[in-house]
Amino acid sequence: ARSQVLVNSASRPEYIPGLISDPNYVRIFDTTLRDGEQSPGATLTSNEKLDIAKKLTALGVDIIEAGFPIASNDDFNAVSRIAKEVGNMVDDTGYSPVICGLSRAAKRDIEVAWDAVRHARRPRVHTFIATSEIHMKDKLRMTQDEVVAKAIEAVSFAKSLGCEDIEFSPEDAGRSDPEFLYRVLGAVIEAGATTLNIPDTTGWCLPNEFGGLIAMLRENTPGADKVVFSTHCQNDLGLSTANSLAGVANGARQVECTINGIGERAGNASLEEVVMAIAMKGDTQLGGAYTGISPIHITSTSRMVAQYSGMVVQPHKAIVGANAFQHESGIHQDGMLKSKATYEIMSPETIGLSREDDAGIALGKHSGRHAVRTRMTSLGLQFTTNEEFDSFFDRFKTVAERRKGGVADEDMEALYNDGFGVAG
Ligand code: KIV
Repeated sequence: ARSQVLVNSASRPEYIPGLISDPNYVRIFDTTLRDGEQSPGATLTSNEKLDIAKKLTALGVDIIEAGFPIASNDDFNAVSRIAKEVGNMVDDTGYSPVICGLSRAAKRDIEVAWDAVRHARRPRVHTFIATSEIHMKDKLRMTQDEVVAKAIEAVSFAKSLGCEDIEFSPEDAGRSDPEFLYRVLGAVIEAGATTLNIPDTTGWCLPNEFGGLIAMLRENTPGADKVVFSTHCQNDLGLSTANSLAGVANGARQVECTINGIGERAGNASLEEVVMAIAMKGDTQLGGAYTGISPIHITSTSRMVAQYSGMVVQPHKAIVGANAFQHESGIHQDGMLKSKATYEIMSPETIGLSREDDAGIALGKHSGRHAVRTRMTSLGLQFTTNEEFDSFFDRFKTVAERRKGGVADEDMEALYNDGFGVAG
């Protein structure tokens, strides 16, 4: 219910790579600056990346994947600037975010990624290689044995450089043979990996499949108790948030996600959806799961990412869409005017959104008398008789039926001042 939501006052447990000192704590790994920037057309400058990284720190993100340093000089420079500046900042709880750089399972990539992130107080290298039959056969042209050898070599090499926080991802895990995954993942744990990230690279899995995969990997991978399991769910079937939560329900303790859900193709799991779902249902449905995110910064972070990336947020997007706290139908508006808990499961203030109209009433053709009368009173416009209001309401409906985008306060005033003539 509305009143219980979202004061996330729990303190963050100590950060130790590969270990979560509080079993209910879910680390939030934000990849807006890496997977998010892979949205077609969403290129960010290094100043913009730095601003976003600072904002993510204020939001309480545990790990910031700042980029893919081998991809370009620009990305290398952005990641190393973020490592130096943001990776040495301390937030109001005393925490410095982990700064992570992505690399393929190739020595040169890993060297460059390490060189970019090593300036941070908590540097992490994230290395990956594909493990599904289709990727190994058609893309890598490698056998299973070769993939295992390459994965071990990559993790061992990162460790030899002095990196103690190493994440390994079996790309396309959602379509990989679980038996092969046990083998690769067991081998990289032995080589020194501390986080095992399980990507559903093509957004292929249903929540029960993805949750089941996490459960099986935790159960059958040799040495699984020495690492943190993570989710990375793409959104090709619109299931990335549901799949991430299914991962958490089955013991994943890191979720990879992006602000506004931006990312390759249909995007990635949206940070705001995942953290608000955990904040609201963690206690009752997810065994006490919680995160270190301060939701109050969600709206401003979402707006910054939309502005810098040029990726417009759809109006009906959960949590951060322009309509997420707006109500148009008469029945809903009547409920909202009586009690906001009737149609809102969280308050907009919780995510740092203040709306001009306290109850989020959007006037349009579905609006009812209660909402229209309330808006007119708040505009200081009175009716002397019920008949006068009825006549005004009929004319409002005529305008609203023709007006795309709703009826603004100025239209209501004009309609009233015109002696109930049709506005606009
Ligand atoms: O989608 C994916 O598989 C990835 C990995 C590199 C984690 O982005």
